[in-house]
Amino acid sequence: MCLGEAGIHNFMPSLSILNKPLLCYDNARSHNILINSMNLLAQKTDPSNLSIKTTNPEVYHAHWPVKDSSLVLQRCYLLAREMGIIVAAWLPTISRHEAKMLTPKHLWQDFLHAEKHQERVFELRFPRQNIDENHDPVLVELMEQLRRSASESELILALYEVFRPALAEAYQTYLDRADPLTDEPTFAYVQTFVRQLREQIAEAAEIVAWAREQLSVAERDAWLGHLRAGLAAAGGVLGIEASSEWKMSPAYATRPAMVLPSTALRDPRHQVRCLFHYPRTMLDDDRARQLAAALSHVNEAWASEAVARTMAEFPKAPLELLVKGARWCYDEMRHAQIGERRLKAWGFDLFKDVPIDALSFNLYSEAGHLYRFGLLHEVETRYNLAKVEMIDTFEKMGDWETRNDIDFDNADEAIHMRYAVDWFAHIFGRANRQERNVYVKGAGKMYDDYLALHETALLADQQTWLPKLHAKMGIE
Ligand SMILES: [Fe+2]
Ligand SMILES: [Fe+2]
Repeated sequence: MCLGEAGIHNFMPSLSILNKPLLCYDNARSHNILINSMNLLAQKTDPSNLSIKTTNPEVYHAHWPVKDSSLVLQRCYLLAREMGIIVAAWLPTISRHEAKMLTPKHLWQDFLHAEKHQERVFELRFPRQNIDENHDPVLVELMEQLRRSASESELILALYEVFRPALAEAYQTYLDRADPLTDEPTFAYVQTFVRQLREQIAEAAEIVAWAREQLSVAERDAWLGHLRAGLAAAGGVLGIEASSEWKMSPAYATRPAMVLPSTALRDPRHQVRCLFHYPRTMLDDDRARQLAAALSHVNEAWASEAVARTMAEFPKAPLELLVKGARWCYDEMRHAQIGERRLKAWGFDLFKDVPIDALSFNLYSEAGHLYRFGLLHEVETRYNLAKVEMIDTFEKMGDWETRNDIDFDNADEAIHMRYAVDWFAHIFGRANRQERNVYVKGAGKMYDDYLALHETALLADQQTWLPKLHAKMGIE
C-alpha cells in the first residue's frame, strides 16, 4: 500500500527533534550545554529531519518514505561506528581475558554494519554522499558517555545490556515497519544484523556476568539507568519514540575525557608473567619451534591492541580504512586464540602454565604510538618468509594443526601488510615513504636493541618457565 502525497503531508509536522529537551545538568557544564543548544537549534531548521515520530499505528500506518529510512539508518550508522571506535580505544585497557578475546570480533562487525549503512544511505540520498553531518547531538553525547565508562565492567555492561540490545530491537522495528519490496536492499542486510547482534549478546553472557559482579547493585543500576535515560532522550535508537528529558547527574556530567592508553593490561589470573614470551634458545629443535610458534600466537594480543589504538588515534579516518583496521584487529586476536587452542590441546593451562607479556605494546609507551604501529608493520614484513619455512617444517612433522594455523595466519598477514601501507598513506600521505620508515625501521631498531640489551635478564626469566613447558612436551 502506498501512503501517497496527502498521507505523507498529514505527518510532516511531527518532527521528533522539535520535541527533544535540552540536556539538563545539575552543575556547570555550560560549554557542552551551549554546543548542544546550538546543535539542536540547527537541527530544528534542518528540513531533512524525520517526518515520522511515533510508532503508534493509529497515527502512522504505512511504510517509511526514503527520507526517513535514510535518517534512521544514519543514526544506526553513528552508533555502530562509534561503538567500534570506543571498543578500539578501550581494548588495551581491557584486562579480562575473555573480554579481550571477544570484543575485537564485535568491533569488526560494528564496522561492517557501519559500512553497509553508509552504502545504503548513499544510495537513498544519491547523488548526495553525506552521512557524517547533522548527527543527533543527544546520540553524540550518549556515545561520549559510553567512551567515558569508568571501568571495563561499565563498558561491557553498557555495550551488552544497553547498546547492542537496543540496536537489535531497533533493527527489528525497522524490519517490522519497512517494506520488504520497495526497501529490499536494506531489508536483506538488516535481517543479518539482528541475528549477529543477538549472537553477540549470547557470546558475551560470561563476561557480562563477570562485569555485573565487579559493580555494586547501586553502581550498576545508576550507570545503566543513566545510559537508558540518554537513549530515551534521543527518542530511542531510531529517534521515532517520544523523547524524554535527560537529567544528567554531576557524577556522570563531570567525568573526565578518556585518555588513550599507552600501556596494555593483561588478566591478573595469568600466573606466568614473563619479560618476553618467545624462547631465546633451542630453536634448532623442531618440537621446540612448534611450542615457540604457539607461544608467539597466544601473545599476539599486542598486535590487535596496536591496530585498535591506531583506529582510536584516527577516528575520523575514511570508513573503508577503519573497516580494514577492524578486520586486522580481529585477525590478530584470532591469532592469539589459535595459540591458546594449540597450547590447551597439548595440556597446558592458559593461566597457570603459559608465559604472557605485553612487551611489544608497552615498549613504546614513551616513544609514542606510531612507533608501536610501525613495529607491527616491521615484524609482519620481517617474519613473512620464516612462516613459509615453518609451514614446511610442521607439515613434515605431521603437525597439521600448527601447520594450518600458520598457513591461515600467513594469509592474513599478507593483507595486513597492504593495510599498513594504506594506513601509513593516510597518516603521512601516500608519497611519504621516508617518514613512514622513520617509525617502521626506527621501531624495529628499538625492539632489537631492547632484546639485545636485556639478553641476560631474558635468559634468566626464560629459565623460570620454559624448562617446565619443554618437560611437559617431552622436549629434552
Ligand atoms: Fe598475526
Ligand atoms: Fe598481522
